[in-house]
Amino acid sequence: MSFPRHRARRLRRSEGLRGLVRETRLSAAGLVYPLFVCPGTKVKKEVGSMPGVYQQSVDQIVEECREMEGLGLPAVILFGLPETKDPRGRSSLEDAGVVQRAIEAIRKAKLKLLVITDVCLCEYTDHGHCGVIEDGEVCNDATLPILAEQAVSHARAGADIVAPSDMMDGRVGAIRQSLDGNGFLDVAILSYAAKYCSGFYGPFREAADSTPQFGDRRSYQMDPANAREAEKEVAQDIEEGADMVMVKPALPYLDIIHRVREKFDVPVAAYNVSGEYAMVKAAAARGWLDEKRVVLEVLTGIQRAGASIIMTYHAKDAARWLKQG
Ligand code: PBG
Repeated sequence: MSFPRHRARRLRRSEGLRGLVRETRLSAAGLVYPLFVCPGTKVKKEVGSMPGVYQQSVDQIVEECREMEGLGLPAVILFGLPETKDPRGRSSLEDAGVVQRAIEAIRKAKLKLLVITDVCLCEYTDHGHCGVIEDGEVCNDATLPILAEQAVSHARAGADIVAPSDMMDGRVGAIRQSLDGNGFLDVAILSYAAKYCSGFYGPFREAADSTPQFGDRRSYQMDPANAREAEKEVAQDIEEGADMVMVKPALPYLDIIHRVREKFDVPVAAYNVSGEYAMVKAAAARGWLDEKRVVLEVLTGIQRAGASIIMTYHAKDAARWLKQG
């Protein structure tokens, strides 16, 4: 297979040829757009560290969803900025909560869009941790029933898929049991199975107002140095009933996405997180990177590694660029 009989450049000579032999075809059909729901009406407040990303009231969220549908995007993932916070994140369970009202409004607008909800406590607790605190520590087992109740409340409002991102052990099983017990047999679980303790979540914590008020998330999120452990986390979540699994963040963890794709037979999602978005936006704003080119390259890379679903703040831009061809 050597030169001169084989010339790799033969198949790179035109866009037609390159298109014919292309192994990865990025499409808007696999992109999920994250939205941040806040109280009020006609609120649309840009997140400083995430240009083009907003905290929005329910009415604005519905408009965004309409636009997404027009762009051929299949799904939205909702995060809530509640009116009130307390140590147990009770505002995450209310029928009139921000996320619940947003789901209902999207349903009422008769959009085909799939609604995914982030299930976690950090946006709703006054201490900003993803679980309840007992004796100064994030308590695993006491958090499970609250997460399960939150998932059921999202399902009742009309969510198609719930996505637990808290990293408590056993939450997928607890959520599946509660969903089934309440008759939501067909609401799917997309588990943030391999979620690393990452510096790349920085801008999100501004967007979702969910910065831990003490300590950090190292006692529940994964150590960035571990890959085999990710396989164990994924296996456990599938065993507990996860329909799909997610690796998060995406770019520093492409090897993990690849491993999970090779080893498991459920759909694999990856979260192209806030810090990854902010890096590209900051460099593009200075003219240091070509935004369109880099975004499409990043998303292609994540898909090539093995993710068929990508959660990304670039979703709307990418869908527009893909449409233009
Ligand atoms: C936690 C949650 C986080 C993100 C999604 N869900 C933040 C965290 O764990 O601190 C991060 C998403 C991003 O950075 O874009 N509920």
